[in-house]
Amino acid sequence: MAKTFDVGIESLGSNGASQEAGHQVVGRPAGAGGLLPLPLRGGRDGDAAVTPAATTGKSFFLETFGCQMNDHDSEKVAGVLQGRGYHAVESPAQADLVLYNTCSIREKAAQKVFARLGDWKTLADGKIIGVLGCLAQQEGEEIFERAPWVSLVCGSASYRKLPELIAQLESGGRRVTGLDLDTDETFETELTRRDNLLRAYITIIEGCDYACSYCVVPHTRGPERSRASDAVLAEARRLADAGYTEIQLLGQTVNSYRDPSPLGWKFVDLLRAVAAVPGIRRVRFTTSHPNDFHRSIVDAIDEVPELCDHVHLPVQSGSTRVLREMLRAYTREEYLQKIEWIRAARRPISITSDIIVGFPGETEADFAETLSLLDTAKYDAIFSFKYSPRPNTSAMHMPDAIPEEEKSRRLAVLNERQRAIQIAANEKLVGQSYEVLVDGCHPARTQWGGRTSCNRLINFTSPHVNLLGEYVQVKITRAGPNSFAGEHVT
Ligand code: 5AD
Ligand code: SF4
Repeated sequence: MAKTFDVGIESLGSNGASQEAGHQVVGRPAGAGGLLPLPLRGGRDGDAAVTPAATTGKSFFLETFGCQMNDHDSEKVAGVLQGRGYHAVESPAQADLVLYNTCSIREKAAQKVFARLGDWKTLADGKIIGVLGCLAQQEGEEIFERAPWVSLVCGSASYRKLPELIAQLESGGRRVTGLDLDTDETFETELTRRDNLLRAYITIIEGCDYACSYCVVPHTRGPERSRASDAVLAEARRLADAGYTEIQLLGQTVNSYRDPSPLGWKFVDLLRAVAAVPGIRRVRFTTSHPNDFHRSIVDAIDEVPELCDHVHLPVQSGSTRVLREMLRAYTREEYLQKIEWIRAARRPISITSDIIVGFPGETEADFAETLSLLDTAKYDAIFSFKYSPRPNTSAMHMPDAIPEEEKSRRLAVLNERQRAIQIAANEKLVGQSYEVLVDGCHPARTQWGGRTSCNRLINFTSPHVNLLGEYVQVKITRAGPNSFAGEHVT
């Protein structure tokens, strides 16, 4: 298989890459692997209901670690700062305010942030260094102990307080924190800086009310809070007016959405309404919890062409015994029932998943059940992780920890099995044509890249120029495990 088009991609790769592995510096998001992404930022202010305040000469640098929720939170934080007259700079050395929006889902992610903070030990002089996001919430004021040069620690549930915290710092405050979790508010901004010219994110639900025994999110992001449907729809309309055609609805458990307004919409009602916004051609949503995944969502995808034919439905383990220990609230059979609904849809819907190996007490037989679930579910891709014990989780002190080498072995076996599934499935797609939204180009401009509705990455050749941002038909000519090569059907 030619290496050039078998590029790693963030959402369809089954290479053991973790979702927090990629991190992003505002203004330079990752594009289609191997290709240059579309020029980003500056062209479009999706939510620019207000004009940024006149620049004050103050600058900021914001680096983001972790998931898409964090990416989008960073867009909102950047909007708040620009609203206060700050301008973004490309390197932390140039900035007056250096912010890290952090992830703590696995230990490695947290270590990475502390390494970054360590860089400032002797260099912080005169700068304000701030830690935002999940690690901020998890470690709280401990961060000041470990890195005394940090002045701001704020978890995502307190972002609504950010303008006030920044004002305190501007007026000479030494150390400010936003660490409350007991909020029923969501983070609304007047101005959101949009860093991707093609795909706009809308958070519809924040926090999480599940209590999966391995997961820090309920602790770091607080309880579930849904946004009112009219606010979501107004944002979607503004984005469409600004020229966006693709919207991704975000939430840790996006399909647990419950409209707090008197309309009382369920997730599927909101999904249909966003897809009906004039100008919107693609609506994605992530991440779905299997427990709240109802057949009505599949019916909606079947009926509404604007709803993308892709569902990310993390299973975590194929063993009902492990799922019970994980407090996932469903059995293997209940999960597979939902996969059957999706597979029975009138149009093919791609399915992706998250899987954890080496959860405490996971036996060889449990692991074998996860492998057999791969064969049954036939995912289009998975994100696979070695279990990482996290503070403030109920699994933290569970007995029968699996040794690190064994976790690595299981991860490799899992990924090998999934790779074979993807190679076989992808080969069958050669010769098919798909509509692709072009989001990257090779410098030589003879090769383009983009995503299908089912989120497959296709790199293709075309006699045309200026395809970025266009929807084009592409015929698949070769298949790799994680991506495809094709040619523009003109
Ligand atoms: N260890 C390993 N993986 C984890 N995830 C969440 N918590 C942990 C942990 N402690 C994974 C889950 C989740 C994805 C975002 O990260 O698979 O779906
Ligand atoms: Fe974590 Fe479970 Fe909530 Fe997902 S549903 S964010 S895995 S606690």
